[in-house]
Amino acid sequence: MSFQKVGFGIIGTGAVAAAHAMAITNSDFATLKAVFDVVPERAQEFAAKYNTVAAGSFEEFLAISGLEAVTVATPSGFHHDPVVAAARAGKHILCEKPLDITLEKIDDMISTCEKCNVLLAAIFQSRFKKAVVAIRKAIDEGRFGKLVSVSAKQLWYRDESYYKSASWRGTWAVDGGGALMNQGSHTVDLLLYLGGEVKKVCGHTANFVHDIEVEDSAFVRMDYVNGASGSLEVSTACNPGFPVTIEITGTRGSAVLKQDTLERWVFAEEKPEDEVIRKEFASGTSRSGGASAAMDFDYHGHMEHVDNLARAIRNGEALILSGRDGRLAVEFIQAVYESSRTGLPVTLR
Ligand SMILES: NC(=O)c1ccc[n+]([C@@H]2O[C@H](COP(=O)([O-])OP(=O)(O)OC[C@H]3O[C@@H](n4cnc5c(N)ncnc54)[C@H](O)[C@@H]3O)[C@@H](O)[C@H]2O)c1
Repeated sequence: MSFQKVGFGIIGTGAVAAAHAMAITNSDFATLKAVFDVVPERAQEFAAKYNTVAAGSFEEFLAISGLEAVTVATPSGFHHDPVVAAARAGKHILCEKPLDITLEKIDDMISTCEKCNVLLAAIFQSRFKKAVVAIRKAIDEGRFGKLVSVSAKQLWYRDESYYKSASWRGTWAVDGGGALMNQGSHTVDLLLYLGGEVKKVCGHTANFVHDIEVEDSAFVRMDYVNGASGSLEVSTACNPGFPVTIEITGTRGSAVLKQDTLERWVFAEEKPEDEVIRKEFASGTSRSGGASAAMDFDYHGHMEHVDNLARAIRNGEALILSGRDGRLAVEFIQAVYESSRTGLPVTLR
């Protein structure tokens, strides 16, 4: 059956916008109609590269014929205003991570989209990694038994030039935090996706080497609603940066994922598919996933998000990551910051 491609536009044509343009232009479900940036030359250069239109103003952008959905790729603390304005103009939204940096703004984004009857999809593309999907399936099937520990390490490196590459990076006002809010939010989302909602966190943040006002490292211990415990270590101070490691351990099985490589996949009850899974994920990709450079990942995860939103718009497919799902990571991160400030555990639910 033929699919009428959904017309997408991109707001904010900086670093991550390239992944979105590649995702949209290579998608079977989407087409790129226009882009907009508050710096017009940046939008024009970007539009020329991706063979699209650079709107001269935000109003002109929203009025582009056939524009049905917008990707919001502005700095993290500047997501709310374009999301709300685009929703009021009847556009569906795909919003970069984190959804915004405060729960108040995120709640307003969610309720505005609901009122305007448009979809709000959040981005955390690591959910689409095939090995993550395999782990989640095994959890859903109860193969780990009772979950005991769901933990992760994201010990990355960003040099000073990364933080100086845009004035909003490493600021409370617009980045909303440091290693945890920006880079770490991906892994927070994975822990919540695999371990479920978190009941209580105990956090400690620190700045080891960077000339920034926010943390370059965060250490968290948490209890999940389902009774499991876990820990998370996140950093941008660990030179030269390590692959992200996720460890799931239960009473009947365990899995260790290092970037895209499954280093352990062991269950009390082995199934024939387990050997296939071990072989499939025996070696990962050559890309670091962002361990030492901000944009060292390909656009396929973003394309899954684009395709999912397009099919949700046309066919009512369920969103992989709704606004409410995206809110959970920011709620967790804010609780860690509060715990670190007060030295006390924070109960979420
Ligand atoms: N999913 C991922 O893996 C991933 C990777 C990198 C960045 N991000 C997220 O994407 C967002 C952007 O990050 P970046 O590194 O591309 O930032 P960037 O600074 O490189 O680009 C942001 C762009 O937005 C423009 N801008 C600012 N305010 C605007 C407004 N109101 N309207 C239109 N344009 C505006 C800026 O001029 C700039 O060109 C952040 O929220 C970041 O967390 C996600």
